[in-house]
Amino acid sequence: MEIRNDKNQKTKILFICLGNICRSPAANAVMQQMIDKQDLSSLFYVDSAGIGNWHVGELPDSRMRKHGLQRGYTIDHIARQFDASTDFDAFDYIAVMDNDNYKEVYSRAKTASEKAKIVKMADYIHHYDNVTAVPDPYYGDGQAFEYALDLIEDGCSAFLSFLVNS
Ligand code: 4NP
Repeated sequence: MEIRNDKNQKTKILFICLGNICRSPAANAVMQQMIDKQDLSSLFYVDSAGIGNWHVGELPDSRMRKHGLQRGYTIDHIARQFDASTDFDAFDYIAVMDNDNYKEVYSRAKTASEKAKIVKMADYIHHYDNVTAVPDPYYGDGQAFEYALDLIEDGCSAFLSFLVNS
C-alpha cells in the first residue's frame, strides 16, 4: 500500500457537485463512514465543495439528510464553493459527480498535474449499467435521492478499494 500515513500526509479527497447540498456532501459522509469502519481515518481526509455559491454556509438539502439518515449516514457538511486557487493544491483527488462538474473543474486546472487529480465518480460505479454520472436529484423525487445514494455507495466503495490497493 503506497498511501502516505503521516498525519499531515493523508490522501486527501474532495468531492464536487453543483450545489454542494445533495450529492457531494452525501459522498463525503458515505466515504467518511467507510473510512471509519475500515479503521483508515489516519490515512484519508475527505471534504466536499460545490461549483456554485448559492448554498454556501447551508446544511445539506433536508431530503438528502433524511434519505441518508435512513441508511445510517449523518450528512451534515456545511456547503462551500470550490476554489481552484487552493483546492487543487490541498487535495490529491477531486472526484466529480457529473460531466458538467468535470468540464467546469477541468477548465480551471492550470497544469497537467492538476488535471490528473480530477476523477469521475461514475468511473468507479460498477453495479449499475451504463452509468456516466451521478444525476442531480435536486429537482427529483425521493427515488432520485435513493438512486443518487445507491450510486454514491457503489462508487465510494470501489474508489476507496482503489485507493487502498494502489
Ligand atoms: P447538488 O444538487 O449539486 O447535488 O448539490 C443541487 C443543489 C442545488 C442546486 C443545483 C444542484 N441549485 O441550483 O440550487
